[in-house]
Amino acid sequence: MTNAILNLAELDAAALQALPAVRILVVGDVMLDRYWFGEVNRISPEAPVPIVRVERREERLGGAANVARNAAALGAKTALLGVVGADEAGATISDLLAGCGIDNFLQRDAAISTIIKLRVIGRQQQLLRVDFEDAPTDTVLRDKLSQFNALLPQYDLVVLSDYAKGSLVNVAAMIAAARAAGKPVLVDPKGEDFSRYAGATVLTPNKSEFRRIVGSWSGEAQLTAKAQQLREELQLTALLLTRSEEGMTLYTAEQVLHMPAAAREVFDVSGAGDTVIATLAAMLAAGMPIASAANTANRAGGIVVGKLGTATVTRQELFPSAS
Ligand SMILES: Nc1ncnc2c1ncn2[C@@H]1O[C@H](COP(=O)(O)OP(=O)(O)OP(=O)(O)O)[C@@H](O)[C@H]1O
Ligand SMILES: [Mg+2]
Repeated sequence: MTNAILNLAELDAAALQALPAVRILVVGDVMLDRYWFGEVNRISPEAPVPIVRVERREERLGGAANVARNAAALGAKTALLGVVGADEAGATISDLLAGCGIDNFLQRDAAISTIIKLRVIGRQQQLLRVDFEDAPTDTVLRDKLSQFNALLPQYDLVVLSDYAKGSLVNVAAMIAAARAAGKPVLVDPKGEDFSRYAGATVLTPNKSEFRRIVGSWSGEAQLTAKAQQLREELQLTALLLTRSEEGMTLYTAEQVLHMPAAAREVFDVSGAGDTVIATLAAMLAAGMPIASAANTANRAGGIVVGKLGTATVTRQELFPSAS
């Protein structure tokens, strides 16, 4: 090639062509988002609470499963490794994964309940959320780590989706194994201690996750200093800070790239972070340079917040001129 600098359209076209062959392994806290909709006509005689007569139910993949769903929606070959209970919700998750063409490597832990977030909605109002949450048992976690090591050679890139529910206690070992195998590792982090993510390729905290680690900042210069310091401390190739309505900022050793939010309309911001990391993963695995991949991910975030419910973005929506 005489001109080493590809223009944007060429980058997009090359990534689009590579996408169907890309293999992504998503690992993390798998959840089921459950919605019960109904009418409220009376108050319970048992306690002063409304009675919801359920008329409609909806179930969606949540947490790491939503990240996998987003990667699959872009056309990447996607596998999911995580833990569910040996229960009906676990079976529902397996059905939903099959419907999206995601390879299912979920471990079933008979000692726990699948993580479920159940919303009860009456008269368009959320009345109650019920969470089922158990951390996986040690034996299952050990099995999961060996399965991770066994699966790793078959994938181009790893996404670790941490919702602090306990299925990523071995995150440091997973990052080390992936790096040793030369596979990029993207992490959506949670919690008080980011040192366990050291050596990852990209970390994608949102503002509050980032603030918990570095404290608050006043002004962009101080934010940049804190972001670059954390990136260096953790030896990351990049830190991608997602900033809700402010868009996102990519910090690498070479540059600070700010991308303003691309949303035209905002209906539902839940799960936007999942769409962002899944898009970033798919584009990086398809060979896009990180700045372009982040730009594409920001576009995807802008599209997904315009949809209701935990939604996905397709290749056609991301690259309308190419399809
Ligand atoms: N209110 C908004 N207006 C415009 N764009 C938004 C808005 N909220 C989110 N986005 C887009 O989605 C991206 C990710 O959102 P955000 O920073 O809120 O991640 P998050 O908190 O991890 O999301 P979640 O945890 O709900 O999945 C943003 O960088 C931006 O591109
Ligand atoms: Mg998030």
